[in-house]
Amino acid sequence: MKAKKIVSMLMTVAVAVSVLTGCGGGRTAEPTSVADTAKTAETEKTDSKPTGNSSESNASEGNSSKGGVVGVALPWLGTQNWAEAEVMFKEQLEAAGYETIIQAADQKVPQQQQQIESMIENGANVIVVGPVDGTQLGSVLEKAKDAGVYVIGYDRLLENTTGVDGIVQFGSVKTGELQAQALLQGLEELKGEAPYNIELFGGGPADPNAPNFFKGAMTVLQPLIDDGTLVVVSGQTEFTQCATADWDNSKAQSRMDAILAGNYSDIEIDGVLSPNDGIARAIITSCENAGQPIPVVSGLDAENESVKWVWSGKQYSTVAKPTNALVAKTVSIIDSLLAGNGMPETDVTANNGVIDVPVYELPPVVVTKDNAKEVFADDPDRMALLTE
Ligand code: BGC
Repeated sequence: MKAKKIVSMLMTVAVAVSVLTGCGGGRTAEPTSVADTAKTAETEKTDSKPTGNSSESNASEGNSSKGGVVGVALPWLGTQNWAEAEVMFKEQLEAAGYETIIQAADQKVPQQQQQIESMIENGANVIVVGPVDGTQLGSVLEKAKDAGVYVIGYDRLLENTTGVDGIVQFGSVKTGELQAQALLQGLEELKGEAPYNIELFGGGPADPNAPNFFKGAMTVLQPLIDDGTLVVVSGQTEFTQCATADWDNSKAQSRMDAILAGNYSDIEIDGVLSPNDGIARAIITSCENAGQPIPVVSGLDAENESVKWVWSGKQYSTVAKPTNALVAKTVSIIDSLLAGNGMPETDVTANNGVIDVPVYELPPVVVTKDNAKEVFADDPDRMALLTE
């Protein structure tokens, strides 16, 4: 019998006769001593303080009767979406009645492994993971699974492990397609007739999103590179050549500097595929420093600084993937799990190299100056940036 089915059965029994003891563990997998169940957490919730050793552990005082401990392991806080996730998980999880252990790993795999270990040890019922490297958490996530803890991949796929129950993300291939379509639209709008001189950038190669963004973009761009509409002047069209280690903006800027110095001394660059906003701004800065006209550049995240640049025309586009919606979706799945109802239904799965993982996808939305006010109509903070 599958563990999740057992969960709801045992939860019912637990509610009726309170037979379960111990702490931690969200799912009633194998009957281990660490186990089990949200019910246990629920009964402990009223008077317990958080068991996490993180300085960011928090009790949710005077809250609903739901309860449970939720760990959130983020890869870093270096882009706005992750910094927002840290704040929004805390707010939304506490509002839902959970205790939280929220940590970020500064792009370091061992640090993230250790943080997840400690979340397991400290009684997490569910651990939400935005991996630094999608392939490097296999054994610690198996350990979580064996301890009866649910694991949800957040924003990024968790690869090569059976220790994952579901992934919540914005369509990553779709994101790349939108970036490439916006690049083409901007070229046609602002750079006259084809052919167009362009360059391609990818994100951090350890992040499973980065090759998917690139793949989505190349399904749109490759045919136009093949027919000569687009000219990648540097000749660098493979993901491995275009990737930006650790999503590091300064590395992207150095690569752009080198490409411009080596290939564009007597020609103009028209456009650049950028995988996110930080890298977009680094690319634009490099072009400005080289005395180039500003190229059409794509982006991702609708970071405040880039929303301003899109509004002023300095960055052509970004892609909005609202963190509050992704966090809310994750919290709704946690609610379902800890209420004993298992993972919600979804038609989408992704093979992570070992198993097919249920995927809960939200739609990314491309943003240009033309539609910014519509896209951000319900986002007063970003609306406030669309001035003058
Ligand atoms: C996220 C992007 C983010 C990037 C770098 C990706 O996995 O989807 O929103 O810009 O990581 O942090």
